[in-house]
Amino acid sequence: MKLIRTKNYEEMSLRAAALLASQIIRKPDSVLGLATGATPLGMYGFLVDWYRKGVLDFRDVQTWNLDEYLGVQKVDSHSYYYFMHKNLFDGINIPEESIHMLDGMAEDIGHECAAYDEGIRKAGGIDLQVLGLGHDGHIAFNEPEKFFSAGTHCVAINKSTIRANARFFLKEEEVPKKAMTMGIGNIMAAGKILLLVCGADKAEILQRVLQGPVAPEIPGSILQFHQNVTVVATEDALREM
Ligand code: GLP
Repeated sequence: MKLIRTKNYEEMSLRAAALLASQIIRKPDSVLGLATGATPLGMYGFLVDWYRKGVLDFRDVQTWNLDEYLGVQKVDSHSYYYFMHKNLFDGINIPEESIHMLDGMAEDIGHECAAYDEGIRKAGGIDLQVLGLGHDGHIAFNEPEKFFSAGTHCVAINKSTIRANARFFLKEEEVPKKAMTMGIGNIMAAGKILLLVCGADKAEILQRVLQGPVAPEIPGSILQFHQNVTVVATEDALREM
């Protein structure tokens, strides 16, 4: 595991964007796994900027997002679909058909999840997966459990995660209680993983994820078993290590 320690959020975002950019430059038809949340926002900002300056070309890139709220329409400003378009896709030249996101309004959720797994397989797997980290150690929406999940599935979101994600809604009651998410198996199958973590409030969980026992109760700890993980984290997030 490679650890990049950065002074602040800006530097974390810049270092992460540089890693993503080098992936795209080396392999223009890269298959990227992307994450939502506040953490990768700065990184997406750099990518849009570098596209505008002609440094990056997303024409042949394909993306697969980690997760989506259940029962939320694409046009809803709380959907991850909306978030990704606003913060990245609308600012770059990726063709719409190369963007893959779970449909939170799918009638047959089982089919939606199975088709997503099959789609990733057909795309040749994910070259580089971006991840954030939840306060309870979740990655994507894989919450602490008694087992590690394999493929894309439906989950009940933890109370603490609902509370954390309430900042994106007017009221906590508005946060959806369920989501669809790639499984731990999908994430671990990616060629490379880029984990972004910032803020002192993540310091304790980051220490457990990177140095504690590998256990499904701390889902992110499984990353210790991946061959190619780069963690880009701010100084304050690393203060317990
Ligand atoms: C959400 C997302 C995760 C994300 C996490 C952390 O629950 N499903 O993919 O990593 O929140 O979010 P933030 O970066 O805002 O702390």
